[in-house]
Amino acid sequence: MKITGRTTLYGIIADPIHHVKTPEMMNAIFAEMGHDGVMVPMHLRDADMPTFFEGIRTMQNLGGLIVTVPHKPRAMDFCDRIEGDAREIGAINTIRREADGTLVGVALDGRGFLGGLAEAGLTAKGQDTLLLGAGGAGAAVAFALAEAGVARLTIHNRSRDKAEDLAARIRARYPDVAIDTGAPQTAARDLIVNTTSLGLRQGDPLPLEDLAFRPGQVVAEAIMDPEVTPLLATAKAAGARIHFGKPMLANQLRLMIAHFLAQPSDATTPPSRTGD
Ligand code: ATR
Repeated sequence: MKITGRTTLYGIIADPIHHVKTPEMMNAIFAEMGHDGVMVPMHLRDADMPTFFEGIRTMQNLGGLIVTVPHKPRAMDFCDRIEGDAREIGAINTIRREADGTLVGVALDGRGFLGGLAEAGLTAKGQDTLLLGAGGAGAAVAFALAEAGVARLTIHNRSRDKAEDLAARIRARYPDVAIDTGAPQTAARDLIVNTTSLGLRQGDPLPLEDLAFRPGQVVAEAIMDPEVTPLLATAKAAGARIHFGKPMLANQLRLMIAHFLAQPSDATTPPSRTGD
């Protein structure tokens, strides 16, 4: 990668920042597609968000930002426009900075998850689905599942009130989808998606105590590392088909680039800016 005076700058904001893997992955894709851009980590503290966002509006060669923990919900407040269902989800993870400094935010986690499923030849449409977790990632995936047309969506979360709250928000946007916060009944489901953080750390318990699986159902993870979480190992041993967390990110990176490169008048089909 050669950085010149014409290179477009992109950032990923987080606190802490040292663990982020997105810059190396994103820069590899930029190089592959011949986009003259570079992504760098930006360690940003919550208290500095107003100053930071005021500053980046003036930074003429900044193409956009990826937003991650803990900034996803609040970053929305600094955008001029929010696209898609990010407002209902309550968080964004990608911002495009347009030439006049306009900041356009979008949430791509859920669409990334669906793209990963599709790549594996799987679909959420028509599936009896169980979502484990109702945090940030859970909300994004839940909206995407509802949009994809699941036959039924049960949301299970340690804090039941958060599951209820998420279910109500989805019902408001997708009144035709059957949504509940009832018993997980894992063995009865076609598709189970874990969006809790359980499995991330060694020694974590399973996201549910009472887990039963069956061949033919799909058990999917939002956790990327480790690749095989205890949940996936248990599901696989019981004959279920497992779906790793990595494709969700891989798909998101492509969607993020499409968002960065989209022109203000065209939110769906990004023209190539290769050679900028
Ligand atoms: P993210 O943005 O990665 O989704 P988050 O919003 O903090 O992170 O959500 C974490 C999810 O993991 C939540 O569903 C959380 O459950 P609560 O809403 O009850 O906190 C879930 N989670 C985290 N630790 C957990 C634990 N020890 N047992 C069960 N669920 C847990």
